[in-house]
Amino acid sequence: MQLYHPHLPNYLESLTPPRPATLQAMEAHAQATNFPIVGPVVGQFFYLITRLMGARRVFELGSGFGYSTAWFALAVRENGGGEVHHVVWDETLSKQAQEFLRELEVLPMVRFHVGEAVQTLQQVGGEYDLIFCDIDKDGYPASWQVVKQHLRVGGVALYDNMLWSGRIWDDSDTSAATQGVRALTRIIAEDPDCTFSLLPLRDGVLMAVKLR
Ligand SMILES: C[S@@+](CC[C@H](N)C(=O)[O-])C[C@H]1O[C@@H](n2cnc3c(N)ncnc32)[C@H](O)[C@@H]1O
Repeated sequence: MQLYHPHLPNYLESLTPPRPATLQAMEAHAQATNFPIVGPVVGQFFYLITRLMGARRVFELGSGFGYSTAWFALAVRENGGGEVHHVVWDETLSKQAQEFLRELEVLPMVRFHVGEAVQTLQQVGGEYDLIFCDIDKDGYPASWQVVKQHLRVGGVALYDNMLWSGRIWDDSDTSAATQGVRALTRIIAEDPDCTFSLLPLRDGVLMAVKLR
């Protein structure tokens, strides 16, 4: 399903500021291996939010080979330094991320974990300024209480793929992933402890702020 005017994605991408060669190499790697990353328009938005908040502590669930991590780490470095947690259950991806993030010279800020992401957040614990979730979509609804619990008041949760290529509107699609995206949207919309916007950037980014 085409979500936008055909010119919009390229137009938005043409407006993103120049980015380091390593980020461009990561984009080329994603394209060559058909690996789903948030891409430069959403990456730049994540960078903007992280800078705007002055975030120093970021936790990411479902980090792949570290593309979205790179945007958070660049912003946290500009904010004066801190911690960015990278979690993926695939050791090879974790190693690839370490290589790319070393090249980008942000490695000292990044903590790498291999395992199930929601469980890892529970085990590592702590309070974060920003938590980004990009795990398998059937896991979205159950992640929310854990994400919320580990956000500081005023902290921001980000979820990717909240338009799910338009599958959320297809009533015949009752797959666990599509149901997961729908359910999380409802859960957050009805949660009195937060306020949120669903931004139609790329595949949809949900941004929620913890109020209390
Ligand atoms: C969509 S990709 C991540 C892309 C990354 N956020 C980026 O934009 O660069 C999701 C990754 O997280 C992994 N993953 C999915 N669900 C997970 C879970 N529950 N725990 C740990 N890793 C998970 C997937 O195998 C995949 O490598």
